[in-house]
Amino acid sequence: MEKQKIMTIARLIRDSGSNVAAKLAEHEGVSRQAASAWLSKLKRDGLIASSGTGRGISYSLPTLKYAVKEYPREGLSEDVVWRELGAPIVQDLSNNVRGIWHHGITEMVNNAIDHSSSETVHLSIYQTILDTTVIVTDRGEGIFKKIQRALNLYDAREAILELAKGKFTTDPDNHSGEGIFFSSKMFDEFWIRSGILRFVHDDDEAPDILYESDEDVVGTRVVMRLNNDSPRTTKEVFDKFALPEDFSFAKTIVPVRLAQHEGEKLVSRSQAKRLTRRFERFQTVVLDFTGVEEIGQAFADEVFRVFKTAHPEITMTPIRMSEAVQAMIRRVQIST
Ligand SMILES: Nc1ncnc2c1ncn2[C@@H]1O[C@H](COP(=O)(O)OP(=O)(O)OP(=O)(O)O)[C@@H](O)[C@H]1O
Ligand SMILES: [Mg+2]
Repeated sequence: MEKQKIMTIARLIRDSGSNVAAKLAEHEGVSRQAASAWLSKLKRDGLIASSGTGRGISYSLPTLKYAVKEYPREGLSEDVVWRELGAPIVQDLSNNVRGIWHHGITEMVNNAIDHSSSETVHLSIYQTILDTTVIVTDRGEGIFKKIQRALNLYDAREAILELAKGKFTTDPDNHSGEGIFFSSKMFDEFWIRSGILRFVHDDDEAPDILYESDEDVVGTRVVMRLNNDSPRTTKEVFDKFALPEDFSFAKTIVPVRLAQHEGEKLVSRSQAKRLTRRFERFQTVVLDFTGVEEIGQAFADEVFRVFKTAHPEITMTPIRMSEAVQAMIRRVQIST
């Protein structure tokens, strides 16, 4: 069976394990019998699994390759982890996909080594026919608490905003603060869980999301997932956020709603200052207003008039504005 058809089937199964034969028949324009025959073949080959019978049959994607190991952090090097655990599992995938895994695994393991102060670093890797998932876990202080402490932030949730903006590091002598910013954009799904907070990047066109949950994760857990046939390259991600003549990145997309705590409206100058902190490091700042219904006059004035007047060299581009947000921004800009 061609690779592409197998991946189509795997995607259908990932979306939902039930009624797969019918959906596949419709998708490929073939009879249900033909679709069922393909599914039986893939099942015999061990690439998909099923439970139940007849119309109640449900398909799933079994783990085909798997690796797990806990390393002592002291003396560990990210290259060793890559060669020993990562590289063997992704060796049959295309160059661009291997490149992304090399980047993501070494950056996230390096973070656990250099920033977590944990005793151990734990990795698990799973691969199905469709995708590969890597989880890097340490039992240290926790990324959001560490950033909160370093910046003296009132709330650990603000740490996520700093990460989304990029170029943030608590160790400027040894680091540049680019690891999470770029890695998160290379994967189909990228999460960081620590304490009760979760930072999620799962779609280049959508803003990063902050979730809160009841579960309290000790240390830091990073989850990266990438489709095995992804066409993305590391270079494409670096280029998208860098100007050609510049070796470091100069553009950032900031999800404005991360500056908004639960139940809050964006109204005050202090909220605006929280948002614009460190914008100076970028030439272009795209402000994504998804999930923000309205903003107050003081907030808009601080970002789009006061800050802009003080930093004429920075291009600020608001996108995905509601009518109310657009009207408020226009109003403060007219008054300059
Ligand atoms: N596992 C971790 N535990 C605690 N803090 C972390 C962890 N990973 C990252 N951090 C914090 O998040 C910050 C940003 O990480 P990121 O990888 O983006 O940049 P960096 O490691 O500082 O620089 P670079 O990756 O460019 O070398 C770090 O400076 C550190 O404060
Ligand atoms: Mg790093």
